Amino acid sequence: MRTLIKNGTLVTASESYRADILIEDETILAIEAKSSASANMVIDADGKLIFPGAIDVHTHLDMPFGGTVTADDFTTGTTAAAAGGTTCIIDYALQTPGKSLEEALQVWHERAEGKCAVDYGFHVAVTDLNDAVLAEIPELVEKGYPSFKVFMAYKGVFQVDDATLLRVLKTSGEAGGLVLVHAENGDVIDVLTKEMLAKGQTEPLYHALSRPPQAEEEAVNRYITMAALAGAPAYIVHLSDGGALNRVAEARLQGLPIYAETCPQYLFLDLELYNEPDFGGAKYVMSPPLREAGNNEYLWSGLDSGNLQVVASDHCSFNLKEQKELGRNDFTKIPNGAPGVETRVQLLFAGGVLENRISINKMVDLVSTAPAKLFGLYPQKGTIAVGSEADLVVFDPHMPFTISADNQHQNVDYNPYEGFRGQGVPIKVLSRGTLVFDNGRYVGKAGHGRFQARKSFTAI
Ligand code: URP
Ligand code: ZN
Ligand code: ZN
Repeated sequence: MRTLIKNGTLVTASESYRADILIEDETILAIEAKSSASANMVIDADGKLIFPGAIDVHTHLDMPFGGTVTADDFTTGTTAAAAGGTTCIIDYALQTPGKSLEEALQVWHERAEGKCAVDYGFHVAVTDLNDAVLAEIPELVEKGYPSFKVFMAYKGVFQVDDATLLRVLKTSGEAGGLVLVHAENGDVIDVLTKEMLAKGQTEPLYHALSRPPQAEEEAVNRYITMAALAGAPAYIVHLSDGGALNRVAEARLQGLPIYAETCPQYLFLDLELYNEPDFGGAKYVMSPPLREAGNNEYLWSGLDSGNLQVVASDHCSFNLKEQKELGRNDFTKIPNGAPGVETRVQLLFAGGVLENRISINKMVDLVSTAPAKLFGLYPQKGTIAVGSEADLVVFDPHMPFTISADNQHQNVDYNPYEGFRGQGVPIKVLSRGTLVFDNGRYVGKAGHGRFQARKSFTAI
């Protein structure tokens, strides 16, 4: 099967140029200024941009959390990903205390197998460390799982102590892995939470107030110190706060291999939203929480300067009805998380590129190339090059859109960006050469998505 994409402007992390792309089966066979090759399918991309398929390295699909299970499973979540121009996700397999990391992976593979619209991989979250679990880390790096997650928050659920952080960092670093962290000081949050509940402060706003920026900055600082002690590379997920970003910037100035991701919610939304009436603030209950409005621009400048390398979604959807509502009388019972796998690329284009906050090549780097490099998928994914997989997005930079729960593919009853208007829509999405999304319609099939064993960590 040959597909020819003609007359488009190819956009990679480093350049933009007009060319034709010839695809054979799953792979890019040729890139030429003008191709006269014959093909089974020809796509005219005149006036359109062609991006490498976006990679979302932070999703939670079919995940039990907060007494319920995420609204999106691997079918709906990856279909929404495809609709938004994302052709590969990396989800988190969470260790059950007392069980092995391999068992966690088995559970998550069963959840994903045969259900995915686009490709997928797994990070492995360590929640209960012992010598046997530690010994699994080098084995898993070898098997294609070179990234591990630890939580410094969610006390009594996922939170681990400093000894665990250090041991995981050392072992992973020696084995060629990368340790990802949820950096918030869970003990501090626990004290503040109890104080608030004792005063009857139960509304969604108190979720945010119980998790102040200092709790994030302190944890980021401690984690960076541990990583330096361990001599290991480290990655901070969903960084939300300017103070925490300063700690990352300082570490990077010292030459430490510290990386950090932020998410659209911390670029576009702010603390005010927790005051939405009628429990509407629950839609934004996520951790870390939304911050003061001024913080957004600070994060944008972190993206532009390179101190933040990745924008991921942290897609973790719970319906407002029946799920978020579990915490109507107590914010600690509101399941944490929000949807975003479908809207990440469009938001960054409309709110970042078109608003002159980042270049279009930087956008491609943030959503595709840097994640591919950091997480062992490059160059088969994350770029447009001969020999790379044909994960491609044909993007109309002029087409207007309005974000709404009414037109989304995410299987959840709200959208945190409801009413956001912008310009720039993925009109065709190819996953390894197969058209999976076409002019607003999903045309792929669940099960097309394939598990991606990844290479060990390489510094960027
Ligand atoms: O609130 C969030 N972020 N939910 C998902 C789990 C996590 O901490 O990433
Ligand atoms: Zn987290
Ligand atoms: Zn997450």
